[in-house]
Amino acid sequence: MLAGRRREQLCFPKGFKFGVATASFQVEGAWNVSGKGESIWDRYTHEYPERVFDHSNADVAADSYHNFRRDVDLVTELSLSFYRFSVSWPRILPTGYSNLVNEDGLRYYSELIDTLHKNNIKPVVTIYHWDLPQSLQDLGGWTNPIIVDYFVDYARLLFTTFGDRVGVWITFNEPLSFCGAGYGGGDAPGAGPAGSGLQDYLCTHHTLLAHAAVYRLYKEHFQDKQKGKIGITLDFSWLEAATTSQEDQKAAETARQFMFGWFAHPIFSSSGDYPAEMKSRVAYVSRKQGFPRSRLPTFTPQQIQRLKGASDFLGLNHYTTYLVNQGSGEIHTQPSFGDDMGVVISQKDEWPRTNSTWLRVVPWGFRKSLNWVKDNYNNPTVLITENGVSQAAGLRDTKRVSYIDAYLRALSDAIYKDGCSVTGYTYWSLLDNYEWMRGFSERFGLFEVNYGSPARTRTARLSSDYYGSVARTGCLPK
Ligand code: NOJ
Repeated sequence: MLAGRRREQLCFPKGFKFGVATASFQVEGAWNVSGKGESIWDRYTHEYPERVFDHSNADVAADSYHNFRRDVDLVTELSLSFYRFSVSWPRILPTGYSNLVNEDGLRYYSELIDTLHKNNIKPVVTIYHWDLPQSLQDLGGWTNPIIVDYFVDYARLLFTTFGDRVGVWITFNEPLSFCGAGYGGGDAPGAGPAGSGLQDYLCTHHTLLAHAAVYRLYKEHFQDKQKGKIGITLDFSWLEAATTSQEDQKAAETARQFMFGWFAHPIFSSSGDYPAEMKSRVAYVSRKQGFPRSRLPTFTPQQIQRLKGASDFLGLNHYTTYLVNQGSGEIHTQPSFGDDMGVVISQKDEWPRTNSTWLRVVPWGFRKSLNWVKDNYNNPTVLITENGVSQAAGLRDTKRVSYIDAYLRALSDAIYKDGCSVTGYTYWSLLDNYEWMRGFSERFGLFEVNYGSPARTRTARLSSDYYGSVARTGCLPK
C-alpha cells in the first residue's frame, strides 16, 4: 500500500482531465421499458443464461435508467471533469432503423446530458458500446456491409439531437472485443469459434468503414457549428516478448499488429490500410487452406482515403499485459484468427492476480503501450478512455487504490519522461455493473452497488476517496 513508503508528489500537467466511464447495457437496466427495443445482449443473455458465468442478465443491472441523477451526483462528488457513457442504439431506435424514433429514449439521454452540464461535468459519449439492435443482427449485424448506412443514420440522429451539448464523441468501443469475441467467439451475438478468421474480419472491416463514414459526416456537416471532437476507442493490452530470442521478439510485434494494428493502422498510420504483416500472413494461411483469396477483406483506394486520419484523438483502453511466444506454425483446416496470427499468449505467474482471470497488475505495460502508440503513429493525441480493476465486494478496496496509483504513475512517466501526448484519464468504472459474460461476478466500481436492494443503492468505496482527491488536486498523494 501507499502508507509507510516515501514517495515524491506527482502532479499531472495543467489541463489534464480525470473522468469515469460506464456503458448503457452494463448499467441502465430498463431493458424493455418505455419503448426500448431488444439488443443482441438482451437476446443472448435471455436465450443462453447458462453461458453467463453467474447465469444473470442485465434486465435491471444498476438501474441507472431510473437513477441517472444519483449517478451524476456521484461523479460530481468526485470532482471529475467528464463522464463517459454510451447510448443504447435500441433505446433510441428500437428496430435499429431511423424511421422509428423512440422519443422517450431521446428524452432520457437529453436529461442525462443536461444534468451533467448543470453540474459542470462534460459528457463524453460513446455511440456504440456493443448493444446492437437485435433486428439489425437478424440481417447479419456487423458482417453485413449494409450496417454502415444504418450506423450513419443512427449517428446523424445523435449529432442532430445532442451535438450542441456534446463536445467529445467516440464512435466505437473496443472493436477487438465485439468483433473478436462476438463474431469469432462466445460473446453476443455468439458466432463462436466458427466465425473466427472469417466473421471477425468482416465485422472489423465494416466497423472501420462505419467509423470513417461517421467521422466524415461529423466533419462535413456538424463540425463548423458544434465544434466537437470525434475519435474511436481501441483496447491495447501490452504484448511483451516472453524471451529475448529473435523469434519471440518478432512474435510479440506480430501480435501487436494483429490485436491493435488491425484497427489502429487504417486510421492512424499513413497507409490507411491494415498492417502489411497482417495482410501477408492472412493471405498466406488462407492460401494454405485452399481459399482462392485472403479471408481478410480489402479496402478500395477511396475507402483508404476516407480512413486515413479519420480521428481527432485515439481513445485507449488499457488494463493488463501478456507474454508472447512464437507459435508452432500449425495451420488447421478450419480458419481461425489464432492460426493467422501464429503466436502463443500467456501471463507470468509472478504478476499479481486480480479478481478477473485475464487481468494481472503490470503497470509498466501501460507505459510501453503508450510508447508503442507514440512511436508507430506519430504521437497522436490520446485520451485514456478506460483503465481499472475488479475486486471482490467490499468497501475497503485497497488493491484497487494501489492499482490505480501504480497505473497513474506509469502514465505520468509516459507523459513526462517519454513525451507521450495524453490529455486525460478515465477510470472504469463509476460503479459496479454487468460485466458481460462474467455477469455480476466482477465489480469494477469506485462505488459499490447493492444488487440485493430494489433501489440498487450505491456506497462509496475507499478508492472513490482516493480517486476523488486525485481529480480535485490533479496530483497523486505522496
Ligand atoms: C472493456 C469494456 O469496454 C467494458 O465494457 C468492460 O466492462 C471493461 N473492459 C472491463 O472488462
